[in-house]
Amino acid sequence: MRDDEMIELSRTLRCGLAFYTRLFNPDPTMSESSAPPAATPSAIPRATAGADILTHLEAGVMTLTINRLDKKNSLTAAMYSSLASALGAAALDAAVRALVIQGHETIFSAGNDIGDFLNNPPAGADAPVFHFLSAISSFPKPIVAAVCGPAVGIGTTLLLHCDLVYAGDNAAFSMPFVNLGLCPEAGSSLLVPQLMGRVRASEALLLGEPFMAEAALEMGFINRIVAPSEASALAQRQAKKLAAKPLSVLLEIKRLMNKGQAGAVAERMAEEGATFGRMLREPAAREAFSAFMEKRKPDFSQL
Ligand code: COA
Repeated sequence: MRDDEMIELSRTLRCGLAFYTRLFNPDPTMSESSAPPAATPSAIPRATAGADILTHLEAGVMTLTINRLDKKNSLTAAMYSSLASALGAAALDAAVRALVIQGHETIFSAGNDIGDFLNNPPAGADAPVFHFLSAISSFPKPIVAAVCGPAVGIGTTLLLHCDLVYAGDNAAFSMPFVNLGLCPEAGSSLLVPQLMGRVRASEALLLGEPFMAEAALEMGFINRIVAPSEASALAQRQAKKLAAKPLSVLLEIKRLMNKGQAGAVAERMAEEGATFGRMLREPAAREAFSAFMEKRKPDFSQL
């Protein structure tokens, strides 16, 4: 990427995050200080090992692997921070031309780590989960996802911001926010009805019912279904094809494809985030989270 393109990209990313931060905190002095630091080209370590988020850079493809199998790849605040930093650096690193996000053959992600949410609830736009959502939704280069097994909550909604999604035949998508006393996030209250139509979105969001790979394919939520053992390799092959295309052209095509509603998505994410933060402290969420920790069914009869 040329220097002038890099500067423009850095400016775009900072503007996106600043917009999001302003909606949460009207103090304009907040915007600049909460922007992610600009990465220098090739600042990303080529591989990390033994972490909850693994990064690997090869042949222009940055792969982020959610790697917390003992807790079903549920995502903690620390993991959101790692993902946000990796995305921020990858956006600015000329060596990264496409990105793959994946979990394990048996599970993509169980969504937010519920215990972590209870102990460390996201407070305002500076919470790591919102940095992650801002980073993935404004990521300028192509993102390819490989999804196998359950993709719960943000495990499903983050896919709305991926450009290509390849799923194992064991993939099960769900957005059970209602069962947790919470509202949808990641712009899903806007994007899911657009994608699925209102009545199917109501099943997914009001009832919190899961949908399987076949239904996801039919709704245009995913590109293709393969054996779980093949999803990651397929995502890599597609990402390598993207990495061989002219990056400057990919950036323009993705920008133009998203232009129609980038602002509406950012605005909806901010409203969802503020509502989510409030609901997290309300009785329905408290009951749902206590029930999860105590391994019992929640009792919403009085709420
Ligand atoms: N947060 C924290 N811990 C979680 C978790 C989550 N979202 N999802 C799973 N875990 C933990 C379990 O508590 C369990 O821990 P333990 O071994 O210390 O008891 C471990 O991961 C294995 O989970 P388990 O439920 O036994 O696995 P499973 O294969 O039977 O079911 C899921 C997998 C993903 C279907 C199931 O764990 C689930 O529904 N998780 C909750 C999903 C959710 O509501 N996420 C929030 C969305 S906003």
